[in-house]
Amino acid sequence: MAAENEDCVISAFPELPRPAASQSGKVDDFQVQLRRHPSAARQRGSTSPPSTAASRLPPQTPRTPMRRVLEHLHRTMRIPMPADAPWRATFLSHVQQMDSPTFVLSTLHASDPSSASAPRFVPRARTVVFRGMWASLPVNPKNPAPLNPDTYQTHLPTITTDARMDKAPELLETASAPDGPQSGGGGPVEGVFWAAEAKTQWRLRGRAYVIGPDIDSPVAAPVRAALAPYMRRRTGAAAGAGGSWSWSRELTAHFGNLRPLMRGTFRNPPPGTPLSQRPGQGLGLGQTVDDVEDEVSRRNFRVVVMVPEEVDRVDLSDPERGRRWNYTFVGTDNEGEWTVAELWP
Ligand SMILES: Cc1cc2nc3c(=O)[nH]c(=O)nc-3n(C[C@H](O)[C@H](O)[C@H](O)COP(=O)(O)O)c2cc1C
Repeated sequence: MAAENEDCVISAFPELPRPAASQSGKVDDFQVQLRRHPSAARQRGSTSPPSTAASRLPPQTPRTPMRRVLEHLHRTMRIPMPADAPWRATFLSHVQQMDSPTFVLSTLHASDPSSASAPRFVPRARTVVFRGMWASLPVNPKNPAPLNPDTYQTHLPTITTDARMDKAPELLETASAPDGPQSGGGGPVEGVFWAAEAKTQWRLRGRAYVIGPDIDSPVAAPVRAALAPYMRRRTGAAAGAGGSWSWSRELTAHFGNLRPLMRGTFRNPPPGTPLSQRPGQGLGLGQTVDDVEDEVSRRNFRVVVMVPEEVDRVDLSDPERGRRWNYTFVGTDNEGEWTVAELWP
């Protein structure tokens, strides 16, 4: 296991060439590497700094009694933001050991309003690929996109997705509206990882934000304001060192990290529509995209950033003594602390 405080990032590239059999003898479907982030990488252009504009208040995850007590304590004690999420390094080391860094992402799906008897929301879950922590983009040597400087460290897991898939509007009501904002969100999520090698289940609960092509614009200020407090400057990363850090550059770098065939899936016919519907101009299966600014695929490409507020860790590595921990973030966006409690499994 990596040292708890190791300044590391995880890379998850299912699209890289398949490596040979791993030491365990298994063939890895997903290459996961623990590497140091490159310093001041290739850069291009500049964008506005993170906005501090007042944000739309995101819906919070349900407040358990324990959370309410901890929030009360926090309000009365005024504790500053901690150095690091206490679960982050162990979580990353477990994900690094996984054959494939996939997990199940759950969201809430609004039911058909015409059905009076149906519950207002129903759960939706699907497999997704963990793409590393936000602002710590893994190093893919084949990424043709400019990279941000290695300025920030976060505990915010990311995935990539298509704006036309259900999870996007589930997080962001207007995601699929032609003229609506492309970035937004704050919808409740839970991500469930089964780290089989570490025999540990991780459940990360919180909110998730969608990052789209308009992320540098004023309309996306609430998203930047919601995420910026969790982007902690790395030790030794001086302000402006290696150039300015840009939100849209990070988005493009995520797109560039995918291999061309994977980038081409963002030119697929609209996901979930009947095969009998003819796809629009430029859309079709099996396309490859080399240009990281390809207009059609970039219109659909999104990065989803999770903001965990509660983490449930169940360790079954000792069959005679299962262990379980609850980590809860108590506080507001820019001030708070993680509490840790060991629980009966
Ligand atoms: C192994 C595997 C990995 C996947 N990774 C992703 C992913 O990273 N992002 C994504 O949006 N969909 C991914 N999918 C597809 C989703 O499971 C799902 O089919 C798709 O996102 C549509 O779901 P939705 O309409 O509920 O959003 C993956 C599927 C599999 C089987």
